[in-house]
Amino acid sequence: MMMTNSETLRVDLNDRSYDIIVGANLIPNAGEHIPQFVKRDPAIIVTDVNVAELHLENIVKSLQEANITSKTILLPAGENTKSYEGFCELLNDILDTGIERRSCLIALGGGVIGDITGFAASVLLRGIDFIQIPTTLLAQVDSSVGGKTGINTQHGKNLVGSFYQPRLVLADTTVLDTLPRRELLAGYSEIVKYGLLGDRPFFEWLEENGHSLIEGDEELRRKAIVTSCSAKASIVAQDEKESGSRALLNLGHTFGHALEAETGFGDKLLHGEAVSIGMTMAFDLSARMGLCSTEDAARVRKHLNVVGLPVDPTNIAGQSWKCDALLSHMAKDKKVRDGKMTFILPRGIGDSFITSDVDLALVEAMLDDAIAA
Ligand SMILES: NC(=O)c1ccc[n+]([C@@H]2O[C@H](COP(=O)([O-])OP(=O)(O)OC[C@H]3O[C@@H](n4cnc5c(N)ncnc54)[C@H](O)[C@@H]3O)[C@@H](O)[C@H]2O)c1
Ligand SMILES: [Zn+2]
Repeated sequence: MMMTNSETLRVDLNDRSYDIIVGANLIPNAGEHIPQFVKRDPAIIVTDVNVAELHLENIVKSLQEANITSKTILLPAGENTKSYEGFCELLNDILDTGIERRSCLIALGGGVIGDITGFAASVLLRGIDFIQIPTTLLAQVDSSVGGKTGINTQHGKNLVGSFYQPRLVLADTTVLDTLPRRELLAGYSEIVKYGLLGDRPFFEWLEENGHSLIEGDEELRRKAIVTSCSAKASIVAQDEKESGSRALLNLGHTFGHALEAETGFGDKLLHGEAVSIGMTMAFDLSARMGLCSTEDAARVRKHLNVVGLPVDPTNIAGQSWKCDALLSHMAKDKKVRDGKMTFILPRGIGDSFITSDVDLALVEAMLDDAIAA
């Protein structure tokens, strides 16, 4: 058995509390961590075809060694899986395995698999246990933590879903080695977000270590994931259902979602890439409003750019942009409350706040400059 070097942190939510374990080779050692949560065989592993090819055998074997049988449900890879049709099929496939109330689902994959499996767990037999084994960096630092689950509809992304917490999260840093670099960078963008919204020393640490972390340093990856998950866990513990401070996690996302909507939520612009541009825009807007220094705004732009993330809409090849279209997407964002657009704006690196007190003329000017850049 390979050595594991891991760290555990706790998400505090009363009877829904759970551990996040972060470390190398956790999947081949899953049998050490999972058995106590599988109260009834077989464990139902839900994964996508890409992840199955690379990592499924390791988990199945390790569970076998711990005397746990499993069945696997294979879904197509990609965002389209998070649809009504995909969801119904998944529910039926899980029911076909003959689950009972004490059965447990295991979501093995990126955010798509985590979101749809968590949602299935929340409604099957009115709620069964599930475990998250996130295999993308984005899922490890963001989507697997905090209990948001869901699917997309023709009206927009993630509009049907639930708040439903997993029993355990296993974030195996070794599986990141097989992740395409572009996906890795997209996840890194969400890591930078935690520094920007509330932890300046962490941002400075990323300026120092971001490059080596992206290149594969296991220990640095673990530290970045643990720091990100603790930040998210403490925000979620204060405001599980996003009635207030949880919205801070949307730094860069109002702009980002508008950019994604314009590009059709596809390969042209990944979510994390959109967030990178969106965070750059939030700092730019904040600097224009006199809320944050131009030095900080420039420093954020520089770091994201240096690691290889896009920072301007014009970095996206073959896409033309219209300010009106972006603004109208922003007005439709599900974070809109009482018809007012809400912004997460920085006072500087490591200090962001929520406000709807923003002069839209400044937003327009910022967007106009960004798409002309
Ligand atoms: N629930 C939340 O709080 C939350 C937060 C952020 C994002 N999300 C959701 O997460 C989804 C995006 O997640 P994602 O970026 O992980 O995308 P994803 O699940 O589509 O994974 C990206 C790609 O990487 C592949 N892949 C996954 N792990 C791999 C590995 N280890 N090696 C090689 N390839 C691998 C997948 O097959 C897929 O093709 C979106 O649907 C978004 O709405 C949810
Ligand atoms: Zn995000």
